Amino acid sequence: MNTQLRRTVIAGNWKMNKTPSETTAFIKELAPCVADATCDVVCCVPYVCLQNAIEAAKGTNIKIGAQNIHFEPKGAYTGEIAADMLNDLGVEYVIIGHSERRQYFAETDETCNKKVLAALAAGLKVILCVGEHKEQRLQGVTNELVGMQTKIALQNVKAEDLKNVIIAYEPVWAIGTGLTATAEQADETNGAVRAAVADVYGKDVAETVTIQYGGSMNAGNADELLAKYHVDGGLIGGASLKVPDFTSIVKSASK
Ligand code: PGA
Repeated sequence: MNTQLRRTVIAGNWKMNKTPSETTAFIKELAPCVADATCDVVCCVPYVCLQNAIEAAKGTNIKIGAQNIHFEPKGAYTGEIAADMLNDLGVEYVIIGHSERRQYFAETDETCNKKVLAALAAGLKVILCVGEHKEQRLQGVTNELVGMQTKIALQNVKAEDLKNVIIAYEPVWAIGTGLTATAEQADETNGAVRAAVADVYGKDVAETVTIQYGGSMNAGNADELLAKYHVDGGLIGGASLKVPDFTSIVKSASK
């Protein structure tokens, strides 16, 4: 990370875990543990837990995020949630393009782009996920692939809006598997994402963009990953569900 140039952000992605009451208890327990953090701390919780999370996080340095939005502002999309609805609730962040949504819910780089634009228009901060499958790493196309995912998802995003965009590099083979990219792989691929941003927006802008690593980041490997120049934080799944583990990662990012 480079704290002179960009914010370090540790975000928990709870996925489909925790009830609203568990959410209240968790945030209340977490708050004093991360009160001294010098990085940004975000919990991205299930939709039905947002209200409880926002209430419990009031007066703390914990920010609350959702895990998805629909790209239309409103209309006949049964079961979907629009960006404005989240903004009205007090939500600050939204994850877009997580590999589980690409894999199980048919999201594409194009729908990610529409969602990024909708989120920014509603005043939400975006955590855009990119990352390769194992075969793609073995085929040697990782850097091209994450560059392409980044460029397509950011189509028509203005340079001045990039301050509200975080990119999370998450190798799909490392998510929830216990396999982590080496710190060198994370740094190299995060660097490739930054180079793609630089292609479109120029190097100076690209240097200010927060690029996280995600994929089995935990209390044991966070120090090494976060020591890398291009790794500006983490998007944490499993380890974000336990207060001691998540706190330890936040402390690594606050050094
Ligand atoms: P993991 O998940 O930390 O459990 O690997 C990361 C993510 O999916 O964002």
